[in-house]
Amino acid sequence: MKESNKEDPTAELVIILDFGGQYTQLIARRVRECRVYCEILPSCTSPEELALRHPRGIILSGGPSSVYAPNAPGLPAEFFAQGIPVLGICYGMQLMAHLLGGRVVPAPYREYGKITLDVLVEEGLFGGVERRTQCWMSHGDRVEEAPPGFLTAARTDAAPVAAMEDWKRKLYAVQFHPEVAHTPHGKKILENFLYQVCGCSGNWTMGSFLETAVNEVRQVIGGERAICALSGGVDSSVAAVLVHRAIAARLTCVFVNHGLLRKGEPESVREAFSQLGIPLVYVDARTRFLGRLDGVYDPENKRKIIGEEFIRVFEEEAVKLGAAGFLVQGTLYPDVVESGTATAATIKSHHNVGGLPQDLRFELVEPLRWLFKDEVRELGGELGLPEEIIWRQPFPGPGLAVRIIGPVTEGKLELLREADAIVTAEIKKAGLDRKIWQYFAVLPGIKSVGVMGDSRTYAETIAVRAVESRDGMTADWVQMPYPVLETIASRIVSEIPGVNRVVYDITSKPPATIEWE
Ligand code: XMP
Repeated sequence: MKESNKEDPTAELVIILDFGGQYTQLIARRVRECRVYCEILPSCTSPEELALRHPRGIILSGGPSSVYAPNAPGLPAEFFAQGIPVLGICYGMQLMAHLLGGRVVPAPYREYGKITLDVLVEEGLFGGVERRTQCWMSHGDRVEEAPPGFLTAARTDAAPVAAMEDWKRKLYAVQFHPEVAHTPHGKKILENFLYQVCGCSGNWTMGSFLETAVNEVRQVIGGERAICALSGGVDSSVAAVLVHRAIAARLTCVFVNHGLLRKGEPESVREAFSQLGIPLVYVDARTRFLGRLDGVYDPENKRKIIGEEFIRVFEEEAVKLGAAGFLVQGTLYPDVVESGTATAATIKSHHNVGGLPQDLRFELVEPLRWLFKDEVRELGGELGLPEEIIWRQPFPGPGLAVRIIGPVTEGKLELLREADAIVTAEIKKAGLDRKIWQYFAVLPGIKSVGVMGDSRTYAETIAVRAVESRDGMTADWVQMPYPVLETIASRIVSEIPGVNRVVYDITSKPPATIEWE
C-alpha cells in the first residue's frame, strides 16, 4: 500500500467497483465530501489492475442483479484476500457474503424505503451512530447468515444481517445505502470506514486536486505542445487554465464556431479569453458543420457527426500549430457515464466521449474526467477564473443542434437563437440566472394554428426549459414565477416572426433528460 503522503492527497485513493447500481455516483460524491479522493471502476476490473492503483480501500456498489442470477457480476475468489479494506453496499454485501461462505436468500418481500435499523455493535462502522436509526433499503435478496469470521453489526425486521464486519480481515458490509440522504447517519458510517478502517486522513481538497492534476498534465505532455478544445463554457475553460498552468505558452486554445452557438457567443468567448491571456485560435467552420448536418434527423447521428467534425477541425489546426500530439478536453464525469460504460447504458453520446471518431489521432488530456460540475466550479475558483465564466450555464458541445428537433437549417437556428436570447435576458432580469442550473429555448418542430390581429397563423412552437440540478445527472424542472414565464412567452411571440406558441417543459430528469436530443 502507498504511504500516506501529505503532498499527494490522491495517494489516498479509494476505488468504487461499480456493479451497475443506481447510486454508484452518489457513493463517489459522498466519499469526496469526506475529502477522500475516489474513482469508479467497472466491477470487471482485474485484481492485478486494482493492485497497481494501490487503493486504501475498495467499496463494492449496489446493483440490480441477484448473486444467483446466471450472469450475475462476480469477483474472483482471491479478491477478499488482498489485505485491502472492503466495504460492500447492498449487492456488494450479498456478493461478499455469498463468496465467503455466508447464506444469501431471496427475502419473502422486497424491503424498500425508509427502514428502522437496530445497531448491535456500536464500534466499527457504527461508532458514534445511534442504536436505533433510520436507513434506506432497496433490495430483494438478503443475507440470512454472515460468513465465518464476521459479526452481525446491525439488523432490521426483514434483514437479520443488515450489516456485518470482520475486523481482522477489514471486510465490512451494509445491506442499506449509506450514500443516500434518507440514511441520516450514512456519512458517519462512510467516515468510519474511510478514516478508521482505511486510515485515510481526509486531506483531499480542490486545491490539492489542482496541484496533482497540474503535475500529471506536465508528466503526460512533457515538453510537447498541445491544443485545447475550447467552447467557452466552464468545463473547457477550467481545463484550459489548468493545462496552461502546467505547460504555459505550449498550450493553444482552439475555439470552433460550428454555427450552432447562441446569440453573441463567439464574441463573448473571444473577449473573455483575451483577458485571461491564453493564446486562442478562432476557426469559422459554420459552413462545413451545417453541410454535414444537412437533412440529418437522428439525434445520435447528429451527435456523432458533430463529434467527428470537431476532431477533424482540431486535427487540421493542430498540424498548423505544430501540436498534433495532445488534445485537451473539458470532459466531466457525467459525460463519461451518460456516453455508456462497461456497466452503465448509453443515454446519449456526449460529443467529447461517445461522439469521438474511431480513428482519433490525438492523445486526449482530460484533467476533469473524474469531477462533477459543482466540483469543476470550485476548481475554477481555485484557478482564479472570473465569476462570469465559472457561473456560465452549461451548454452542450453539439450546441443548438440538439435543441432543434429534426434537421438543422440556418433559418431554424436564427429563430432559436432569438428565442433563446429572450429566455436568457428575462431570467437574468428576474435575478434567477444563478439560481437556475440551465435555462434555454427548444424548437420542437411543431406547427400549430394561432390568430394574430385578424388573421390566422400557422407557425412554430418554442418550448422553454429551465431545470435545477447539482451535477446534471438528475434534474428538477423549475417552478418559475408565472410573471417571468408570461413575459418570456409574450416577448417570443411578438418579437419573433414565425412563432405563435410557447410551451413550458415540466419534466424532470429522469424520466426526461435536460436536453431534448
Ligand atoms: P442531458 O441532456 O444528458 O444533459 O440530461 C446533461 C448535461 O450535459 C449537457 N450535455 C452535453 N455537454 N456535450 C457536452 O459538453 C454533449 O454532447 C452534451 N449533451 C448534453 C447538458 O446541457 C446538461 O448540462
